[in-house]
Amino acid sequence: MFDPKATLAQLTREEKVQLLCGLDAWHLHGIERLDIPPITLTDGPHGVRLSTSSTLDGSASPATVFPVEAAMGASWNTDLMRQAAAAIGDECQALGVSVLLGPGLNGKRTPLGGRNFEYFSEDPFLTGAMASAFVDGLQSRGVGACVKHFAGNEQETRRFLVNAEIDERTLQELYVEPFAKAIREANPWTVMGAYNGVNGPHACQSPDLLQRILRDQLGYEGLVMSDWVAVKDKVASHLNGLDLEMPGPAERDQQLLNALNSGELSESILDEHALRVLELINRCLDNRRDVQPDWSANHEIAVQLAAESAVLLKNDGDVLPLSSSQRLAVIGDFAKNPRFQGGGSSHMTARTLSKALKAIDTRAEIDFAPGYTEMTVSAAQKNEAVALAHEADAVVLLTGTTDAMESEGFDRADMKLAPDHIDLINAVAAANKNLVVVIHAGSAVETRQFEAVVPALLHTWLPGEGGGEALARVLFGETNPSGKLSESFPVQLEHNPTYETFPGTKETVAYSEGIFTGYRYYDTKELPVQYPFGHGLSYSRFTLSDVAFDADQRRVSVSVKNIGDRAGAEVVQLYIHDETSTYRRPFHELKGFAKVYLEAGAEQRVDIDLDEHAFAYFVPHLGRFAEESGRFELRLGVSSRDIRATLWVDVESDTEVRLLPNLSDTVADWLNDSRTAVIMQPIFDRLGFKTEHPMYGIALGFPIPQLIDFIPQMGFTKADAESTLRELTDGWQRLN
Ligand code: BGC
Repeated sequence: MFDPKATLAQLTREEKVQLLCGLDAWHLHGIERLDIPPITLTDGPHGVRLSTSSTLDGSASPATVFPVEAAMGASWNTDLMRQAAAAIGDECQALGVSVLLGPGLNGKRTPLGGRNFEYFSEDPFLTGAMASAFVDGLQSRGVGACVKHFAGNEQETRRFLVNAEIDERTLQELYVEPFAKAIREANPWTVMGAYNGVNGPHACQSPDLLQRILRDQLGYEGLVMSDWVAVKDKVASHLNGLDLEMPGPAERDQQLLNALNSGELSESILDEHALRVLELINRCLDNRRDVQPDWSANHEIAVQLAAESAVLLKNDGDVLPLSSSQRLAVIGDFAKNPRFQGGGSSHMTARTLSKALKAIDTRAEIDFAPGYTEMTVSAAQKNEAVALAHEADAVVLLTGTTDAMESEGFDRADMKLAPDHIDLINAVAAANKNLVVVIHAGSAVETRQFEAVVPALLHTWLPGEGGGEALARVLFGETNPSGKLSESFPVQLEHNPTYETFPGTKETVAYSEGIFTGYRYYDTKELPVQYPFGHGLSYSRFTLSDVAFDADQRRVSVSVKNIGDRAGAEVVQLYIHDETSTYRRPFHELKGFAKVYLEAGAEQRVDIDLDEHAFAYFVPHLGRFAEESGRFELRLGVSSRDIRATLWVDVESDTEVRLLPNLSDTVADWLNDSRTAVIMQPIFDRLGFKTEHPMYGIALGFPIPQLIDFIPQMGFTKADAESTLRELTDGWQRLN
């Protein structure tokens, strides 16, 4: 431990410059002469990926592989998230890691995002809530989080080059808000800038992102590092708010020294960044602990999280749960060679890999057929699978994406499973009606190619090293499924609002769908979806009733009852619908949730506290989130499409969101605003513009100057025109 400010004062300019870039791929520079050691950073996010080498090409030391973030999001369990992140923290301490490069908080404009599996949800509230729990759990063990990739990194295609064009409201409501919530609630030690540009400058040298939003608006005081090799112009990056370039070794220190010599970069900016690096190092050293992780307890947390994230999409005829007296056919190579994580920087080495085949085998009599090799199914493989299916009481068929279909570095080509897998599912379904299809994929998939013939569908994501055991627990009802979709499953890719615009042109991707992504789009448009956001069945059933709202405490409460015959958990989801708003809003937005465990027959009152953004939306001309007075419907449900109890409430706000029409706006603008309508309506009436007047519609569209010019042509005098203008001007001035 040392005093960062006093240490800074002892450093030479060269030493300070050196601090602003990594020592190698995974370490920060220490200062040997002052006994400050290098500290270690590693990926993340779903476990510790400690590289065995100091360069980027090393393999990873074994550690517990937790479910990927999309799965964590689908657990909707912030307590378990906190526990898992604390376990990751312990493993970091044991492996000498001070900062974990995660969690990733980017959004999901489309199911095709190659890294969607590494992000929590399409919804910024759910993402922010899971992120806060993650950061909190990790940092409670003295290990820093690094929330990434700030911001606008919603695709892999040309991620180093593409410029994301995002309007201010969309940027704030969907893509900044998860970071903002995590910063407000859990204060991550570090933030990582993204590769892409946002509205012009690259994220790692964007004054708008790094200065205006991160520092000024969100008041963030921690360290900002670049993504790996994301710095284009080193001087510009540091000038605009970046503290640390990663990875090292540094090749551009001389550029900084030149910029200091020429005055382009001031000593005070150098000091500011160097101090943040020193503060981080000090914080890391200060929090070093000697920890012996409880590996088997951590593995069990990974199993529980995987089991809680499995989403039972459908269960027609109660095919599930299975019983150990059934003779089962297990089909799918994934049962033996688990598809449990994604490709890229998050790819880990599992410490204890649990396989579905073994886990199912310990519970029932089974026959196994691999069914496929990666994406292809040979005739022999298909025949073998169908023959086993014929003989079995029920079939468990594991399918999903492969690394070739879904990984960091590229986006998915479509939302479908491999054609051979689809064919296999249909063939097996024809042989046995008791079919359970288990999908291992990091993101939404289309199911319409086999939906009609498959009675039970379980989406198990990329479930980490405990996936096999977790699957068996859910299949046999030892764990009652309680995972809920953290993203919508559209019927088909073409329904996604970015279908025409993703992944953009060579240089640019326009977020032209704005705030209408995921269920915000499908629900507003009333489009059918295959499985809605928040959906997930249980082996029990739950009712919601008696919604109440305590306006002083901003607390919503509701009664939840388990009316099934097994213990289980329900996720109560609170969506808020704004009756009227100045600017268009989605039909409803998730603003709170609670996961509740209930014994069979038990009932409980559940409280959901609203945060300051619950009724608000981002108003660009005010530069902040604002609430408008009005009526809001509190909609409590078990998915965005299954609302079970509602309550209308009135919200009073002092904020005026409406911009007053001005003297160059149109007649219609004036008539549509109650404040100016009282001035305009009598004038309009006096001029004789009744609806039946042939010029009525045209006059509505006139800007005020055109209206004034037109008055003499209506049979009035020039003086009438002048007095009308005076009337409008005086009225307008009174309002201002
Ligand atoms: C990824 C980051 C990761 C970094 C270090 C980059 O390619 O975008 O998420 O933390 O590599 O591996």
